[in-house]
Amino acid sequence: MKAENSWQDAAGQRWAELSERTDAQLGPLGRQAMALIAPLRGERVLDVGCGAGQSTVELAELVGETGKVVGLDISEPLLNAAKNRVAARGLRSVELVLANAATAGFAEPFDVAFSRFGVMFFEDSVAAFANIGRALRSGGRLGFVCWQPRERNPWAHEPLEAVRALRPDLPLPPLLAPDKPGPFYFSSPAFVRDVLERAGFGDVQIVPYEASLPLGGAKVLDEAVDYLLQIGPAARFLNEAGLNAEPRARELIARAVAPFVTDGGVLAPSRVLLVAARRP
Ligand SMILES: C[S@@+](CC[C@H](N)C(=O)[O-])C[C@H]1O[C@@H](n2cnc3c(N)ncnc32)[C@H](O)[C@@H]1O
Repeated sequence: MKAENSWQDAAGQRWAELSERTDAQLGPLGRQAMALIAPLRGERVLDVGCGAGQSTVELAELVGETGKVVGLDISEPLLNAAKNRVAARGLRSVELVLANAATAGFAEPFDVAFSRFGVMFFEDSVAAFANIGRALRSGGRLGFVCWQPRERNPWAHEPLEAVRALRPDLPLPPLLAPDKPGPFYFSSPAFVRDVLERAGFGDVQIVPYEASLPLGGAKVLDEAVDYLLQIGPAARFLNEAGLNAEPRARELIARAVAPFVTDGGVLAPSRVLLVAARRP
């Protein structure tokens, strides 16, 4: 349960504090996944692992005032950030719920379940997706976006490999292992399809997508380095190795991301899978 619960603590807090910067990179990827399942006006949508709520607000705009969006997250700091965002916009069609998507029960069925990078952390993915399936009406749509392998995402891979040089003797943090729940757990289309079909979904569609996006919203190198020292695989490694205060980490990360600096910001390829499926 560690992967799920870690969002409650400092990691969730950092994500909440940096959410606007993260949104600049993840927002366009989430919108591609939304387009695949196209929520309609008046529909009821469940936003799984809604985090600080950018996707929740975007979904609320798509379904309009006659629709409803329930944002669900296991992290209190992130859900509080989402509550502030929703309150600032006066959105009455949004409800935010602190709960575990793997086990939560839902009174009314949803037309759509959506997630922007929030479904790769379940200990038992098949059971969790079966639970999400039960939240959908018959014929309801599931759509989400998840990362392709870390090696295909240089914004994550290059800084991590750079700081691993500080302690090559240490193993990768379990959260970063491709075969364990974590950001890259759903990077294989065959695995994703198998999980979804075993969880009872049909019509599974998996579309690779890539875009060059501002790394943590950064316009200049220093901003990107500050961000990567707090969020993402390199930060996770430094944290677990007790190397957060190591001055060489900054230098190594700066060198690793310098090739992505452009006049239009620090732009790195982000490679994801856009996934859609249907409850029979
Ligand atoms: C990578 S973040 C993405 C957050 C947000 N969707 C975004 O795109 O900014 C993963 C999110 O999933 C949430 N999460 C992880 N496991 C969960 C679970 N079992 N139930 C509900 N939310 C979960 C985390 O708390 C976190 O907010």
